[in-house]
Formats: sequence, C-alpha cells, structure tokens
Amino acid sequence: MKFFIDTANVDEIREANAMGMVDGVTTNPSLIAKEGRDFKEIIAEICSLVDGPISAEVISLDTEGMVSEARELAKIDDNIVIKIPMTVDGLKAVRLLTAEEIKTNVTLIFSPLQALMAAKAGASFVSPFVGRLDDLSHEGMELVEQVVEIYSNYAFDTEVIVASIRNPLHVLESALIGADIATIPFSVLKKLAAHPLTDKGIKAFLDDWKKARK
Ligand code: E4P
Repeated sequence: MKFFIDTANVDEIREANAMGMVDGVTTNPSLIAKEGRDFKEIIAEICSLVDGPISAEVISLDTEGMVSEARELAKIDDNIVIKIPMTVDGLKAVRLLTAEEIKTNVTLIFSPLQALMAAKAGASFVSPFVGRLDDLSHEGMELVEQVVEIYSNYAFDTEVIVASIRNPLHVLESALIGADIATIPFSVLKKLAAHPLTDKGIKAFLDDWKKARK
C-alpha cells in the first residue's frame, strides 16, 4: 500500500520523507492557502523533495479553464498530477488531459458512481473523501469498499486514493480493503507510529539497564 502525505507544508513532507513514508503528496487549495506562499513555488519545492505523484488542484470550474491551468501546472515537473473536481466539466477536462498524457486525480468523490465515471473518463487516480462522509453520519469506508470492488470487477487502472483521512483506523481499514493509496495528514501519520506499550517497554528496558550498571 502506498502512503501519500496530505499537506502543502514542506517541513512536514521533509520529516515524513525521512521516515520513508512518502510515496507521493496531495495538496488542495485550502492546504496551499494555509502556507501563505506562491502556489507554483510550493509545488516546485515539493517536487524537488519527493519522487512520486504530486497532486496540484485547479481552481477553474469550466473545462477550458481547467485544461489551461493543468497544462501550466504540468510544466513544473513530470510527477505533477492534476487534481480536478468531480463535475461534468471536470470529466471533460480529464478526457482531454488524458489524451495529452497529463495525469489526473479526480477529487471530491462521494459516491461509487462518481468514481466509475471518473475511471471511464480516464482518471489516473480518484479521491473518495471518507472523513467528510463520516461527518454526515455516512460510512465513508463503505464508499471505498464499493469503489475498490467496481474497479476490480472491470479491471480499471485508476488508482484509489483514500482521502479526508482523520484517524489511524481510516488507514487500517483502507489497507484491509486493499485501497491502492491512503493520503494521510502528518498528524495522523505520527499517530500510526505510536503505541503506549512501546513507550512503556522502552522505559522499562532503560530502567533495567541503568539498575544493572549501578
Ligand atoms: C485530499 O486529497 C484532500 O486534500 C484531503 O484529504 C481533504 O481532507 P479534509 O476533508 O480533511 O479537508
């Protein structure tokens, strides 16, 4: 299973990278806005740090605008993946960009049929948002199960990025379902590594070590 990191913060990316946990990066306009820096400059810096797919999202809502933004973003690096919102205009943009061999990640997926349409349009990745569904008392992980099953039924190449991850259980369930990728906020990544019994065990070993040396 691949781990992407869901952040536009280069310090977080550096630290997660040092742990060997970054197979790719996803950003979105909200994450970019939090950094208070130039969009393309941040994306270029991320590309210099990570050798894997880096998602950068378009702002336009019409096909023509999305395609033109995508072409500019794709010039930054070969690893750029264009994040396109799941709309009718977005699907048209995905089709055009796929024909130009520009990779796409169809984002804001909340139903299995949206994921099916994105795959049929040629998307390289889709991003079902589990946390935002959970927030509305819908089982976000059920969506992931259905998307993975549909893609397997028809042997689509589109990879499933589980997005809007809020806790370690989301990552565990994604792995059990067999989702290709989880895009994980840095705060959740750190929680995955932690266990109180590990800390307790380290302390006990060190205490015993010190006692024996007295
Ligand atoms: C995915 O690509 C998005 O950037 C992200 O996972 C959205 O997460 P949120 O629902 O916590 O904003």
